[in-house]
Amino acid sequence: MTTTDLSAEQLTKLRAETPGVDNVVHFNNAGSALPPNVVVETTVAHLRREADIGGYEAAAEAADRLSAVYESLARLFGARPEQMAVIENATRAWDMAVYGYPFQPGDRVLTGRAEYVSNVIGLLQLQKRFDLEVVVVEDDEAGQIDLLELERALANGAAMVALTHVPTNGGLINPAAEVGELCRRFDTFYVLDACQSAGQVPIDVNEIGCDVLSGTGRKYLRGPRGTGFLYTNDRALERIEPPFLDLHAAEWTDEREYVIRDDARRFENWETNYAGKLGLGAAVDYALDVGVEAGSSRLRALADELRSRLDGLDNVTVHDKGRNRGGIVTFKVDGLDASAVQQRLAENNMNVSISPAGHARLDLPHRGLPALIRASVHYYNDESEIERFVSTIADSQLAR
Ligand SMILES: Cc1ncc(COP(=O)(O)O)c(C=O)c1O
Repeated sequence: MTTTDLSAEQLTKLRAETPGVDNVVHFNNAGSALPPNVVVETTVAHLRREADIGGYEAAAEAADRLSAVYESLARLFGARPEQMAVIENATRAWDMAVYGYPFQPGDRVLTGRAEYVSNVIGLLQLQKRFDLEVVVVEDDEAGQIDLLELERALANGAAMVALTHVPTNGGLINPAAEVGELCRRFDTFYVLDACQSAGQVPIDVNEIGCDVLSGTGRKYLRGPRGTGFLYTNDRALERIEPPFLDLHAAEWTDEREYVIRDDARRFENWETNYAGKLGLGAAVDYALDVGVEAGSSRLRALADELRSRLDGLDNVTVHDKGRNRGGIVTFKVDGLDASAVQQRLAENNMNVSISPAGHARLDLPHRGLPALIRASVHYYNDESEIERFVSTIADSQLAR
């Protein structure tokens, strides 16, 4: 793959295919991105079909397209279709693998400061159940996971590394492949949360070397809400039994016997949102069509531009960490609550989120930060939106 940016013509087409850009400056792509038309049309068409001919019948009719969703996901991540599962969100996907992992009492799990809130809550619950030792590996001076520290921690023994690739609360892109290299060297099981990175940066599970990868549809992949996915490699499939089973995950083979299916779909439920699954497939195909590399290079350039413009304002401080940075830009305006800034932006049809300390307790309080404003850009955003956004922030300072 070569690094190419999107041309002006492509950008015009991408924006025309994203009707939401006419309504809002959407800098909340790390929350839920604006979907392109094809995602909405695919999802709605299936719902209509369910209404017209019946839900089971519509699923049967769409069987080939439903199975193609796994092929699309596999292509996106360099995996095999049978290694992919479609699950309702990134948290449940991560849970299915981590809660199903055969921990032994006293096992050590290594994680980083960027770990996602729900994953940490899960690890803390598992800590109680299995007397796990959850070790937080420090950041290096650039703010990414410290690879030397990680190496030392791995040398002391660990059952699992659970790492977030791109955190919910900042521009950091953790060095996932370097972590994978270390995990391989120490033969340690590696779970990567790619919820924010999927669709934002190119991901090849074999290059990264993770055993498990979890993600969501609605963020940088621009899919429908309530969709997510899980990749599990062969070692993960050998090792992990899902914490719950049903008639889709297992077969009831005799009165008192069952057999768990041997592919990643053992982590799915029987009942699922078929329209959402097809919409997710459409989103993945769209991302592959646009080109993740090209989209990534554009959105990262836009985020860099936004960071430097915000940095140039008096009383605004950008707080993103890391050597490599992505599309999430976090900042504070001196003397203004994050919610007041969000409100001011909303009055001007600009969407952002707030990252509160309670969503990043291993990170924000350690940097003395109670909450940050999160402006997350996508490739379909444009320079004029950045201009309007920065002017609104500048005005909100004046109006203080
Ligand atoms: C890094 C990260 N991991 C996991 C999640 C959870 O994703 P979901 O809401 O799809 O469960 C999020 C959501 O913001 C996230 O940012």
